[in-house]
Amino acid sequence: MSDVVSTQVQLAERPTGWPTEDTFRTVEVTYGDLAPGQVRVVNEFVSVDPYMRGRMNDVKSYVPPFALGETMTGGAVGRVVESASDDVPVGAAVLHQHGWRDVAQEDARGFQVVPEIPGAPLSLYLGIFGLTGLTAYVGLTAVADLHEGDTVFVSGAAGAVGTATGQIARLLGAGRVVGSAGSAEKVALLTDRYGYDAAFNYKDAPVRRQLREVTPDGVDVFFDNVGGDHLEAALDRMNTGGRIALCGAISQYNDTERTPGPDNLANAVTRGLMLKGFTLPSYMDHAERFRELMTGWFAAGEIAYDETVVDGIENTPQAFLDMMRGGNVGKMVVRTGA
Ligand SMILES: NC(=O)c1ccc[n+]([C@@H]2O[C@H](COP(=O)([O-])OP(=O)(O)OC[C@H]3O[C@@H](n4cnc5c(N)ncnc54)[C@H](OP(=O)(O)O)[C@@H]3O)[C@@H](O)[C@H]2O)c1
Repeated sequence: MSDVVSTQVQLAERPTGWPTEDTFRTVEVTYGDLAPGQVRVVNEFVSVDPYMRGRMNDVKSYVPPFALGETMTGGAVGRVVESASDDVPVGAAVLHQHGWRDVAQEDARGFQVVPEIPGAPLSLYLGIFGLTGLTAYVGLTAVADLHEGDTVFVSGAAGAVGTATGQIARLLGAGRVVGSAGSAEKVALLTDRYGYDAAFNYKDAPVRRQLREVTPDGVDVFFDNVGGDHLEAALDRMNTGGRIALCGAISQYNDTERTPGPDNLANAVTRGLMLKGFTLPSYMDHAERFRELMTGWFAAGEIAYDETVVDGIENTPQAFLDMMRGGNVGKMVVRTGA
């Protein structure tokens, strides 16, 4: 065994509004010999996700805030290069939460050995095959109770969760699937590649107007990744008995002032709507069923996916910011190059 230098990105200060280059710092950490039960993993891909913005604030949430001056954590996939554990052997592909570093050396119990995905990179465990895909599945089924023939509206449709949501909705029997995204290229991808029946660029005209045009028969299920004007527009278009899965509100994550609530929430009363927020940790019992379904769909060629890949662990903060600003199609990942 030998020492190894790991390049890691830490939270240097808590941001107000949008994070800047001062929010993060890159450091080198030297790992010595493995302690009993530890493994050394070279990360191939690390994930950048919107929820990380919330964890940069020192507030109570469903996951604790990131600690200042410590290496950021988050989803990552890599390969075991040294092992002092019988359960996690050298060569195994592993999924874990020791992200934002190129090499991780930790207790083996924090690493899940995962099978190779035939013909696809391990990064899919951070996207469509992983918590991202599961979020889409859980939101549609356990939260929004999708029915055959439903009209489904997905906001943030060209991102990681959104591209999964439209396809899964269709595979589970939705009647009409519409989505919104932030560029003409993304809108074209939604209809040409991801099976959306119609899509619009929310930057072109008010969401209220554009959503009305693509949903002549109203909306039965709204899967909301965005909040704000998208939620208001959907509340206007919901059919009686409609269900709204509140998955995220990315339009507000960098706000510095309190944002006003929807001006039409009373529609929930008069139309008997269900609005339910969710976070994945409460729904992990759906993971096995999701994996079975996704494995079948994937093998049958029924799932398209895109990844936006940024190279170099030191570029992880920039990748995070680019993703928050819409610089990604599908899942944004960083290839560590280690
Ligand atoms: N509840 C859960 O357990 C759970 C789990 C995972 C993710 N989420 C949530 O799901 C949502 C999507 O996450 P993701 O990982 O799939 O990220 P993503 O959609 O791949 O990336 C974020 C996207 O948000 C869009 N965006 C940014 N600012 C916006 C704005 N002001 N208005 C509309 N769209 C905006 C951008 O696309 P455009 O170019 O289209 O603007 C950007 O690509 C987030 O809200 C996240 O917090 C929730």
